[in-house]
Amino acid sequence: MIVCQNLSKEYGDHKALQDLNLTLEAGDAFGFIGPNGAGKTTTIRILATLQEPSSGDAWVGGHSVTNEPDAVREVLGYMPDQFGLYEGMRSWEYLEFYAAAYRVPKKRWKGLVDEVLELTDLTVKKQSFVETLSTGMRQRLCLAKTLLHDPKVLILDEPASGLDPRARIELKLLLKELSRMGKTLLVSSHILPELADFCNKVGIIEAGRLLASGPVDSILAQASRNRFRLRIRVLQKAEEARQLIEGALEVEDFSEEGSGFTLSTSADLEKQADLLDKLVRDGFRPVEFSQLKTDLEQIFLEVTQGITQ
Ligand SMILES: Nc1ncnc2c1ncn2[C@@H]1O[C@H](COP(=O)(O)OP(=O)(O)O)[C@@H](O)[C@H]1O
Ligand SMILES: [Mg+2]
Repeated sequence: MIVCQNLSKEYGDHKALQDLNLTLEAGDAFGFIGPNGAGKTTTIRILATLQEPSSGDAWVGGHSVTNEPDAVREVLGYMPDQFGLYEGMRSWEYLEFYAAAYRVPKKRWKGLVDEVLELTDLTVKKQSFVETLSTGMRQRLCLAKTLLHDPKVLILDEPASGLDPRARIELKLLLKELSRMGKTLLVSSHILPELADFCNKVGIIEAGRLLASGPVDSILAQASRNRFRLRIRVLQKAEEARQLIEGALEVEDFSEEGSGFTLSTSADLEKQADLLDKLVRDGFRPVEFSQLKTDLEQIFLEVTQGITQ
């Protein structure tokens, strides 16, 4: 449904995007993750036909963004990272305005506006002026607008930035619902946990290069191969336990909370079992010794090198 082939973009001699290759199937929910300046917006604007690539091409719903931009726009709903709302318009007027812009026949406006307001949980705000809406509601109204032409593909650029925790949760639920409806989603974020629970695929981009991409499970497996995230908690002699652990395993990212420790190690299972054995024998009274699932945040740290531009 979305294909990028050697997509590159240069601004002068600055390479904002280098040979990006990506394939998303219909129904995929793709998390496009990377720090600020990584090239997310550039990629998204090229997919949304607002910018031409310097080289390479991309296809949305089978249409080339460089050769058939009009056909791309018909299948695509795009929500930019920054958007303006016209003041002095009520929510329904704002949506009808865009329904007209999308050339939806006039007799369908009312039903359609009610439908997208319902979906974005804004029915009660139908008569409100857009400037009186909270940031989260404005965001949802903008999303409602992008749904008017019933696009198969939705591309949202950092939709959760600037939202408070509750608004983020509401947005996430809405995205999950859209995904259930069969839309193909590409959602960018510089914050990982935001995307982790509704995406089936993720891509990690840094300094214009896609460093890893694929199904969440396989990325998780790939990154956690030979590395473990351990959680250990003892009831006795926490400080000594810490020294023992650090002496027994090669430890990275050690963090401590009371009598509990979280750490990363490449030590094998035998070594881990030896450590647990020793903790028991030496009277530390361990109550917790478990492998944590590597999360996306951890992978992000491992895959990216912290290059900033
Ligand atoms: N219009 C532009 N002119 C020059 N440089 C740009 C322009 N747009 C983006 N860039 C640069 O390209 C890089 C990628 O930017 P962007 O795609 O906005 O990243 P992201 O959305 O991941 O934060 C950055 O280094 C940015 O400064
Ligand atoms: Mg951006």
